[in-house]
Amino acid sequence: MTGLVKIAPSILAADFARLGEEVAAMTAAGCDYLHLDVMDGHYVPNLTMGPMVVAACRPHTPKPLDVHLMIAPVEPLVADFVKAGADIVSFHPEASDNPARTIAAIKKLGARAGLVLKPETPESVLKPFLADIDLVLQMTVEPGFGGQTYLPDSPRKIARVRALLSSAASDAELEVDGGITPETARISAAAGASVLVAGTSSFANGPQAYAANIAKLRAGARQAA
Ligand code: DX5
Ligand code: ZN
Repeated sequence: MTGLVKIAPSILAADFARLGEEVAAMTAAGCDYLHLDVMDGHYVPNLTMGPMVVAACRPHTPKPLDVHLMIAPVEPLVADFVKAGADIVSFHPEASDNPARTIAAIKKLGARAGLVLKPETPESVLKPFLADIDLVLQMTVEPGFGGQTYLPDSPRKIARVRALLSSAASDAELEVDGGITPETARISAAAGASVLVAGTSSFANGPQAYAANIAKLRAGARQAA
């Protein structure tokens, strides 16, 4: 991906005791999106946040709130997340009994809709939905926890998703999530990623370092050009 990639810090790595300040600091540091990892302790073995956390973050940034739903079922909560302030709502197709209907529900509420692929979920799963989605989120770790190591096969999968989007002339963003550092930003961008989710790398060393952290991730991605 030679165009400028977007940086989407995951608040999973933020200091939740000062979340509003953290969101404002990351915004001032130049992020493009704020990524919110919603986990229900059922679809993934971790429990993190619900719509009220989206609502708590909303007043502290004008940036799009990019909500990654690791929940099942998905549809009953979609409206609550959009009403709370989510601009992008992505979900795992395996967690919905009718992904097309869930995508339509998200878009009817005025948000952008994304589908999330686990590392092992084949990109062919996307085919029926390519005309309708605004974003694909390709996991580069198993969903459930921050601070994991980038899976080595990720670039090949990212390239296959990029090829599928190109073949369908889709303008959906290709976002990657998990273990993103300046080095894995480079190989992910080279493989076709256009948005990089980073928790640990974005929030490292406290608010004074956030602008430098983002700059390093952008510089890593630029090396892919
Ligand atoms: C996994 C989460 C993490 C998180 C980023 O379900 O989605 O990938 O956003 O975590 P880091 O950047 O710390 O690997
Ligand atoms: Zn995520």
